[in-house]
Amino acid sequence: MSKVLVTGGCGYIGSHTIIDLINNGYNVVSLDNGSNSSLTTVDLIEEITGVKVINHNVDLCNRDGVARVFAQEGDIDTIIHFAALKAVGDSVAEPLVYFRNNVTGLINLLEVADQHEVKSFIFSSSCTVYGNAEKIPVTEDTPWQEAVSPYGRTKQIGEQIIKDFLPVSKMNAVMLRYFNPAGAHESIKIGEAPSNKAQNLVPVITETAIGKRDEMYVFGTDYATRDGSCVRDYIHVMDLADAHTRAMKFLHKQDENSQLEVFNLGIGEGVTVLEAINAFEKVSNTKLNYKVGPRRDGDVEAIYANNKKANEILGWNPQRGIEDIMSTAWEWEKNRG
Ligand code: UD1
Repeated sequence: MSKVLVTGGCGYIGSHTIIDLINNGYNVVSLDNGSNSSLTTVDLIEEITGVKVINHNVDLCNRDGVARVFAQEGDIDTIIHFAALKAVGDSVAEPLVYFRNNVTGLINLLEVADQHEVKSFIFSSSCTVYGNAEKIPVTEDTPWQEAVSPYGRTKQIGEQIIKDFLPVSKMNAVMLRYFNPAGAHESIKIGEAPSNKAQNLVPVITETAIGKRDEMYVFGTDYATRDGSCVRDYIHVMDLADAHTRAMKFLHKQDENSQLEVFNLGIGEGVTVLEAINAFEKVSNTKLNYKVGPRRDGDVEAIYANNKKANEILGWNPQRGIEDIMSTAWEWEKNRG
């Protein structure tokens, strides 16, 4: 069975994916420096799965440190690369931090992976690569617009680097463009738990409802959408995790080198911010204290996925909708204290 290195394995999507990989019988190691995660997440993964995953506390910008992990582990044949910074607003304030971390980290990882003849590489990309798409839903072929933030540009550059590198490597790769990941594992032992202040809609909602924040703002209700608030495609983190396992199995079946595929991972439906809030109020039976505020810099008006390609090629069929997302996120918030 393959040995899979998951970078960012203690982070939100990484930890949920590790659970799915273990449930599918894979041997997993994690590399995470805890910069926006808790390294004790591996203990929670063990509670859920009964399997102890080793985490290497290494920064991807430390190339020698990454090389040591590969030397120590020996037989890594697959990498799922989650570790990256992802706050749109922070990336506007500190673009160089974002480029160093997300771009240098990727280059170091690819170099070391190539030396160790890693066969399969999965890259966490984002719907942010499309920018303000002219036509929605977006397909994998929808042309990219200018990135709306340095964070978005790091994902565009990351995809370009992989595309340019692949023909001269022995790797095969899949790039997964996530829409808006949210929700928590059904056990409610793990969920979205950034060390930095939450900025994404779903954790902001649950933190407001539980009283960690006094109020929250809907960032603009003057967009040209059905209720004026932005449209996004919220995808449950366990459906995303399942897509990674499927993408990996797909890569393992390839006979030739240098194959590259890209998939959109969203449920294929647009939900407005106000609809998301309504879904939360319904499943939690609480009234959320929110106000309408100004637009947030770097937000696109509306984006959701055409996910046909992932469905046809990976057999991926997301099972959970916005209410499942909100109810698991809410249970997780109540449970985490
Ligand atoms: C963006 C990226 C996404 C990336 C994610 C990582 C785009 C289109 N999407 O997601 O690819 O993975 O960052 O962080 O660039 N909102 C509020 N009030 C709040 C928080 C959010 O109204 O307090 C609204 C936002 O304006 C937006 C929606 O909720 O319309 C979702 O926001 P958020 O959860 O931050 O994700 P995106 O910015 O869509």
